[in-house]
Amino acid sequence: MKNYQNVIIFDHPLIRHKIAILRDERTSMKEFRELVEEITTLMTYESLKEGVPTTEIEVKTPLETCKQQVVKDNSIVIVPILRAGLGMVNGVHVLFPSAKVGHIGMCRNEETLEPDTYYCKLPDGIEEKLVVVVDPMLATGGSACDAIQLLKDKGCKHIKFMAIIGAPEGVSRVAEAHPDVNIYVSTVDRCLNEHGYILPGLGDAGDRLFGTK
Ligand code: PRP
Ligand code: URA
Repeated sequence: MKNYQNVIIFDHPLIRHKIAILRDERTSMKEFRELVEEITTLMTYESLKEGVPTTEIEVKTPLETCKQQVVKDNSIVIVPILRAGLGMVNGVHVLFPSAKVGHIGMCRNEETLEPDTYYCKLPDGIEEKLVVVVDPMLATGGSACDAIQLLKDKGCKHIKFMAIIGAPEGVSRVAEAHPDVNIYVSTVDRCLNEHGYILPGLGDAGDRLFGTK
């Protein structure tokens, strides 16, 4: 895969460790859900070190008053791509508890592998916020591209996209379609198989999170 300015790949032993367990087919639904949340929190800490709106407040310590920077309330919106993106929401909320949540429902057509949008509900005023789109799997990149485009069409200007596992072709597709959007992935796997699944990947993230298979 080419080097893209807007693609940030995490290379952290703790994240690698957790992803190894996530991939394992013997990992239970409960453990899978917990790991997705934990990895998301680690990714959020790093991904949101830039671009988070802050404001200055005065704090009175026991000794004197000083000016301090704090995260602006209600400045971030988390947008999970349903279903699997839901598994990442709490992982962001741990660090940004006041973040509102918008939902975009997308399902890949199994033949064409292109996404169908079946649901969209976003908080009022989202266009002024920092929008963090989350989906654990970035495969062909179709869902991510369409979700980001939908948000741009609604007027959103500050968008970040976070996925746990990406395929090289999908990461490239999103990076090229949306050069103004930073894409954070914990790891980029080898390739996609003929059904659009990431190899080695972890299987179907939605099914493993919600126990549907
Ligand atoms: C999965 C995944 C992404 C999408 C990625 O969702 O959660 O949204 O596939 O594939 P893409 O990059 O090729 O678009 P899926 O359509 O299986 O729906 P689900 O989350 O409801 O299981
Ligand atoms: N969606 C998943 O859940 N897993 C993949 O490998 C590809 C798309």
